[in-house]
Amino acid sequence: MLIPNTSPSFLPWEDSHPAPLWSEIFGNDNPLALEIGCGVGDFIVQMAALHPELNFIAIDFYNKGCIKTCKRVDKSSLTNVKILRAEARSFIESCIAQNSLRKVIINCPDPWPKLRHRKRRLVNSEFVAWLSGFMQPGAGFYFATDFDDYGLDVAQFMAVQPGFDNQLAPDTYRHALAGYPISKYMKRFLDAGQQIYYVHYRKR
Ligand SMILES: C[S@@+](CC[C@H](N)C(=O)[O-])C[C@H]1O[C@@H](n2cnc3c(N)ncnc32)[C@H](O)[C@@H]1O
Repeated sequence: MLIPNTSPSFLPWEDSHPAPLWSEIFGNDNPLALEIGCGVGDFIVQMAALHPELNFIAIDFYNKGCIKTCKRVDKSSLTNVKILRAEARSFIESCIAQNSLRKVIINCPDPWPKLRHRKRRLVNSEFVAWLSGFMQPGAGFYFATDFDDYGLDVAQFMAVQPGFDNQLAPDTYRHALAGYPISKYMKRFLDAGQQIYYVHYRKR
């Protein structure tokens, strides 16, 4: 059974529910930013503190991660973060209006390292083409991974992805991104001497 999440930062949502009215929920009309797979929330609290002008939606289908994220948000004085337990694709399809997201962040998505599992990876060209429909012109797309093969793959397909401009040109990826917060999960890899691959684009 799921541990109930009673945090005021948590927005209970299920596939059968109507789309949340974001401006009512946040109490303002600020643009929306979405973090997919927020894990335990240490990235989102840093990012939301850096960008009070944005309303952050952090989603993860891992209940304990949502609870930990909520605890971090509740401990901070942030009012611009809401957490939902949801699967990215069905959540976006049901709850996000076309051309509405100002920022999309995906940090260290499950790498599915076995070759036969690679097709389970969340981020590929088809996913980004679909996601682009929910992003405003000029919206930022941030992808980070500790997994070499995933980083190189995303860097490669994004370089030819229609409708996106590379923000790191002439590089297609970098191993550091100034001002970009680091999650505990990322730090663990950095401390072990591994590199993070960052890919950063804007929707045209
Ligand atoms: C490896 S963890 C990284 C967590 C966090 N981004 C970080 O850097 O610390 C990947 C997270 O993505 C979540 N996740 C994977 N696929 C997802 C999906 N389709 N929808 C929502 N969450 C997803 C997992 O539950 C997990 O918490």
